[in-house]
Amino acid sequence: MPLEITTTPTTTPRSDAEVAEILTAPGFGTYFTDHMYVVEWTPERGWHDARVEAYGPLSLDPATAVLHYAQEIFEGMKAYRHEDGSVWTFRAEENARRMATSSGRLALPVLPEEDFLAAVDALVAADERWVPPYGGSSGEASLYLRPFMFASEAFLGVRPSQHVTFMVIASPAGAYFKGGIKPLSLWLTEEYTRAGRGGMGAAKTGGNYASSLVAQQEASAHGCDQVVFLDGAEGKYVEELGGMNLYFLYADGRIVTPALGTILEGITRSAIIELAGKMGHPVEERPFGIDEWREGVASGEITEVFACGTAAVVTPVGTLHWDGGSVEGATEPGELTMAIREQLVGIQFGRVDDTFGWMRRV
Ligand code: PLP
Ligand code: COI
Repeated sequence: MPLEITTTPTTTPRSDAEVAEILTAPGFGTYFTDHMYVVEWTPERGWHDARVEAYGPLSLDPATAVLHYAQEIFEGMKAYRHEDGSVWTFRAEENARRMATSSGRLALPVLPEEDFLAAVDALVAADERWVPPYGGSSGEASLYLRPFMFASEAFLGVRPSQHVTFMVIASPAGAYFKGGIKPLSLWLTEEYTRAGRGGMGAAKTGGNYASSLVAQQEASAHGCDQVVFLDGAEGKYVEELGGMNLYFLYADGRIVTPALGTILEGITRSAIIELAGKMGHPVEERPFGIDEWREGVASGEITEVFACGTAAVVTPVGTLHWDGGSVEGATEPGELTMAIREQLVGIQFGRVDDTFGWMRRV
């Protein structure tokens, strides 16, 4: 039985004029909509008290477990407005499944897929006017959705929490990178890794992002946009960026992307594997050595490098820097990078036929 959701509209919604003003330049992760979805879990009652209510601060006991042991997972997804005004999410079932996988790794309960989807739909329906207009400010603005689940029991013993809260919040989003679509400069960190064998690399959990921050700071200190992580065991294989998966296009048309295992299984990643395949560019998923990157770009064998993720969409990659060297990359977005981007964004905004059945109407 799906959970019944009670909706209590906020008594202080932002005015239409204020929402319209925000939607002209939403940025990323700065503004939040009028409502939020909340549901609680205990071993005795299972999931209960599903509700959409006014967005607002939580009151947490200082002993709340998540504040101490970081038992937390999240998802990132978007709702898009089509030209006819309808609103759609992209591969939402995949987010539900990945969250269930993350639950398994973090000893959190699984929220059934139908309740995950109903939660997202209920919040988007309540805050529909916050979904940016089709073709608006940047042409690609959307409503970013952030489902998350955390240990909400006030208890300092180290064991899985006996009270868990799942929520969804929403935030209108323009471009993730301020400079628009231009190649990112990357910093290869040799000091920090984000995941190890048996660790949490494949889970979407706050701890992975907490551990990436110092490496991202190191990247910024070297004038780079993003950090590249290598594998934790040998420091030889490319994993991913702080919030994106990576692809390498070879002159012969094939594409290589790092194999799954200790990286996040990106939902954009698997969409691109299918799209690129359909466009005549088979994608190899395999361990990809950092030397293959350096040598491939230097020799011209690798012609395009790009990164992808929900927030960042598809973003070209330029120069790779490391302590003591660099390999000069593209200064303009690559042709195939942009063609894949066009296809993906076209499907998301309803301009390209959704032959994969990826879109779900809210
Ligand atoms: N890798 C990491 C570490 C991420 O945070 C993200 C973003 O969610 C991705 C990859 C790309 O995943 P997705 O395409 O599902 O957004
Ligand atoms: C996303 O792309 O949804 C992410 O989660 C990346 C970042 C904003 C954490």
